[in-house]
Amino acid sequence: MASSIDVQITTKKKQKPLQHELGFGIHFTDHMFIMNYAEGKGWHEPRIVPYQPIVLDPAAKVFHYGQTIFEGLKAYKTSDGQVLLFRPDRNFKRLNRSNERLGVPAIDEELALQALKKLIVIDQDWIPTASENSLYIRPFVIATEPALGVDASTQYQFIIILSPVGNYYPEGVNPVKIYVESEYVRAVRGGIGEAKTAGNYAASLKAQENAKEQGYSQVLWLDGVHRKYIEEVGSMNVFFKINGTVHTPALSGSILDGITRSSIIQLLKHWEVPVEESMIAIEDLFNAAKNGQLEEAFGTGTAAVISPIGELNWKDEKVLINGGNTGEISQKLYDTLTGIQRGALPDPFGWMVQVND
Ligand code: COI
Repeated sequence: MASSIDVQITTKKKQKPLQHELGFGIHFTDHMFIMNYAEGKGWHEPRIVPYQPIVLDPAAKVFHYGQTIFEGLKAYKTSDGQVLLFRPDRNFKRLNRSNERLGVPAIDEELALQALKKLIVIDQDWIPTASENSLYIRPFVIATEPALGVDASTQYQFIIILSPVGNYYPEGVNPVKIYVESEYVRAVRGGIGEAKTAGNYAASLKAQENAKEQGYSQVLWLDGVHRKYIEEVGSMNVFFKINGTVHTPALSGSILDGITRSSIIQLLKHWEVPVEESMIAIEDLFNAAKNGQLEEAFGTGTAAVISPIGELNWKDEKVLINGGNTGEISQKLYDTLTGIQRGALPDPFGWMVQVND
């Protein structure tokens, strides 16, 4: 399959940013992968080209009806020069689940992985090596048919871009403050909450802006029906350690099935730390915090990795978690997960995939 991917190398290489100035998702490498879809023809013309703007008709359906999907994963360079991906098969599987929900034709997962590997090899000098830095990978699909009728597009593009990144939150592995949203909702069961699609993020922006004005990094969403059960943070799944057991909201159909989330559950089980996936009422969480039983809270995600939560605000009631400090299990999970991802620790679960083999 890989040999059918056409490659056009740029003659104008960009200047690479300094490692300590990376930020998140603002610099992009020299090349990108792109592939087209047309009804009757299927996915075709897989190619790697110089990083460039894409030209779309103003009537392209993605602009009007939001038919678009994205993924996020990372590549790491180990101290001996290997390039590793973390569970990429999971991302392409999830991409196709999101595609299914949004009426987008499935992508050949094997071709997508081969294209990604080829792209990374070409741009491997862009992979930052400093601890906490990595190469963030953003595969996405857009509906490109120029037509205003409300139905699934007959034309698409699948694109992969690469961005050398630092921490998602400026706080790094230090705790973030999270605002529990009780006015707006992000998703409802049967909706598109489980899909990694733009609409879920668009729905979150106003609430996030309000939270930021009050000094909070992100919003914690409650379920859209009862406004009672904890779902997820805008860019992360969430975990709470209460009386020695780690709790996380069960996948309900409106929560993202996070790859970091499932890896963390696997790690905790491996360490024989009790872990429970269930419905968690916000009121019970705040009661646990007030009774001194909420020992730690943290978010998980590709971009955020493990992000400890130091404070929660629900309807102006604030609780400080672990004195606002990073907890023991959050730190251990962060160290272990990033150690495996960077090839500094053994990979007992076979999560890592070598790119330059
Ligand atoms: C990720 O962790 O990859 C995400 O998709 C979160 C965010 C940057 C949208």
